[in-house]
Amino acid sequence: MTLHSSGADESASPDPARMHRPDPDMVRDILEYVADRLLEPEVPLDGLADRSHLTSAIDGLITEDGRDFREVLAVYRDELAPTVLSADSPRMFSFIPSAPTKASLLFDMVVSAASLQGISWCEAAGAVMAENQALRTLADLAGLPESSGGVFVSGGSAANLSALVVARDTMRRRRATAGLPDVPLRVVVSDQAHSSIANSLGITMMSALIVPTTGTSGVLTGEAVRVAVGSDPDPSDICAVVATSGTTNAGIIDDIAGLGQVAREHGWWFHVDGAYGGAGILVPSLRHRYAGIEQADSLVMDPHKWWFAPFDCAALLYREPWLAAAVHTQNASYLDVIHGDSADLNPSDLAHHLTRRARGLPLWFSLAVNGIGAYRDAVAHGLDLASYAAERLRERADCELVREPDLSIVLFRRQGWTEEDYAQWSTRLLQEQRAFVTSSRWRGEVVGRLVFLHPATTRQMVDEAIDALD
Ligand SMILES: Cc1ncc(COP(=O)(O)O)c(C=O)c1O
Repeated sequence: MTLHSSGADESASPDPARMHRPDPDMVRDILEYVADRLLEPEVPLDGLADRSHLTSAIDGLITEDGRDFREVLAVYRDELAPTVLSADSPRMFSFIPSAPTKASLLFDMVVSAASLQGISWCEAAGAVMAENQALRTLADLAGLPESSGGVFVSGGSAANLSALVVARDTMRRRRATAGLPDVPLRVVVSDQAHSSIANSLGITMMSALIVPTTGTSGVLTGEAVRVAVGSDPDPSDICAVVATSGTTNAGIIDDIAGLGQVAREHGWWFHVDGAYGGAGILVPSLRHRYAGIEQADSLVMDPHKWWFAPFDCAALLYREPWLAAAVHTQNASYLDVIHGDSADLNPSDLAHHLTRRARGLPLWFSLAVNGIGAYRDAVAHGLDLASYAAERLRERADCELVREPDLSIVLFRRQGWTEEDYAQWSTRLLQEQRAFVTSSRWRGEVVGRLVFLHPATTRQMVDEAIDALD
């Protein structure tokens, strides 16, 4: 019998480490479940199961004493998982799908198994090195200078917010130095910019100078911004301009070079939101559309979208990362040790967060294993599918393209269809597990929308979605 200093009988006291003891059965069963999923030739679309009994399926599952892991895993596998649409299905043509490589999915498990954080050089040098190598690869592809750097955050929204905070505070500091008043600032955006930009401006107490785009092009040009600013009564409160490459709804790539030029002329911050379409820079035939991206003060590209990494991961790059560190670094006595070497830029200093998962490592591993050429081919496949879908839609007398696709998103009209008809098309295809499609709007009109991103999507899968428009 072992005695605590209190004299209590330890064998009779609860075992506080019982959750942490290795459990070979649980390891084996969960890895088996994961292996089955990873080895499926095509993951099911799912998303069909009846949600109405979810409450009863999980009711009372969490108790004082816990329960057998097999029982809980079965609830997940049989009740919860089938209600979750597989964003990584090659039949997912809605929102912005995801298509993580096998290498990235597997390495995500390594990050999880090691509970790997990527906060600072002091705590996680190897993880920070690897993440920085992946970020450097993206920065080099974009043509950003050697001095650029950044961090992986949870998504495009978080990245846009963190970047716009830096844009705002950099301008505020400049204005203070010049003896100008601290006024609410504005950002020039297109009417096609992602919703997270508007949210970010709300959070940062800035407002938008919205420049309307015209016609089916939808491109925000440097010229349009010049005109809008020229007719603005007092543009002196503008601190930044946002270019999108490409837009989420229609895949439109803005006039990045023209917008970068206007930003330079006015001394504004130049932010490029390439959360969805930034990966297009990989494809030589498209590269000219990204001319000027190397001028960005901040650039976002989401690995969990077209860079084939699992959720949740967005790359946020800054031309001058020290400006970001000046805004985002958290100072507290217990953190002094991680800021010991002032030459180090810690990932936690470059966005609105402190503790962070080393979420860039799955991309890093997959880039190293597969090589950039494999990424180029995979992105090009999405573009090919969009061209193919556009061609099929053009051939149909009852359909019309809204605009020629720039990237991998196709907007179209099905003559005579209402929102209800598009909804039925969606329901039918999902019930048959042939595709998940949703409608959208273009200039107020309800339209069909198809997004291609998965390299395993075949033309036959595209045909199945389009044939269902009959
Ligand atoms: C252009 C663009 N910016 C920002 C976002 C937001 O990214 P997230 O959903 O990762 O927050 C998206 C999402 O689709 C996007 O397409």
